[in-house]
Amino acid sequence: MTKLLTTLFALTVAFVTVSAQAQTAAPAAPAAPAATPAAKAATPKSLEAKAAMCIGCHAIKGYHATFPEVYRVPMIAGQNAKYIASALTAYKNGDRKHPTMRTIAASLSEQDITDLAAYYESEGKAEQKTLADKPNVEPNAQVSGLMQKAACVSCHGANFSKPIDPSYPKIAGQHPDYLFVALKAYKTEGNPQVGRANGVMGAIAKQFTNAELKELANYVGKLDGELVTKPQSRMR
Ligand code: HEC
Ligand code: HEC
Repeated sequence: MTKLLTTLFALTVAFVTVSAQAQTAAPAAPAAPAATPAAKAATPKSLEAKAAMCIGCHAIKGYHATFPEVYRVPMIAGQNAKYIASALTAYKNGDRKHPTMRTIAASLSEQDITDLAAYYESEGKAEQKTLADKPNVEPNAQVSGLMQKAACVSCHGANFSKPIDPSYPKIAGQHPDYLFVALKAYKTEGNPQVGRANGVMGAIAKQFTNAELKELANYVGKLDGELVTKPQSRMR
């Protein structure tokens, strides 16, 4: 356990300190899963031990990632469990490219993914305020036009927190710099380190320039939402 935490801590430190270029050269220190002895892997990890792998990035308010550019690490507490599980599976099988999240997701079993997804969905519940169905800020004419072009609300919900399917993400109030990186990733093809192979969002993101994606990200990111960063003590 201590060893695992130490390794993950090292991984975390490497993740923040190493430059984007160096990360490309050395994709994601695969030390974390390998450091767990095979015998231990057979014993189911406690939920606490699993979540301990995540808090170094997802439970620190304002924590920044540096790859592929500097942006705040997404909030996952309060997110739909089905979407969390689907995102982790996509990092694991390479449909979503991100060296660090891939290494982490690769160390998780299907059961780990299910448990963590349920845990993070419930983590947000206590702090959630009741949202109105309408967004709390109206888009300006430009953003409104962009949203109509791709019917964002038809899938993500009028307030961007009630997607039509629980395997779709809540995005209202998510960090706008992360939303922008995510939207650009749906457009990226043929890069071994960056990109998201999602047919639905790929077709949508490709209709927009990066400047337009940034407008959309900034609007959605300033809405009231249900996502939170819940600080946790590492050694609870
Ligand atoms: C070293 C920092 C770091 C650690 C540790 C980490 N993550 Fe992440 N996580 C990130 C970053 C950065 C992203 C955004 C990646 C991208 O651009 O796709 C991310 C993305 C995610 C997403 C997708 C969010 C979304 O809105 O699509 C989920 C879910 C997630 N992480 C869950 C976890 C879980 C569960 C753990 C622990 C088992 C964990 N992460 C550990 C940095 C980290
Ligand atoms: C047809 C349904 C649909 C429409 C329309 C749609 N989305 Fe999505 N969106 C999805 C799905 C499904 C995902 C999850 C994809 C994945 O697993 O990577 C997603 C993911 C996203 C993400 C990534 C969230 C994260 O946490 O990483 C952003 C940002 C986003 N959508 C914004 C938009 C915007 C802005 C529009 C309108 C311009 C839009 N979407 C239109 C279905 C849709």
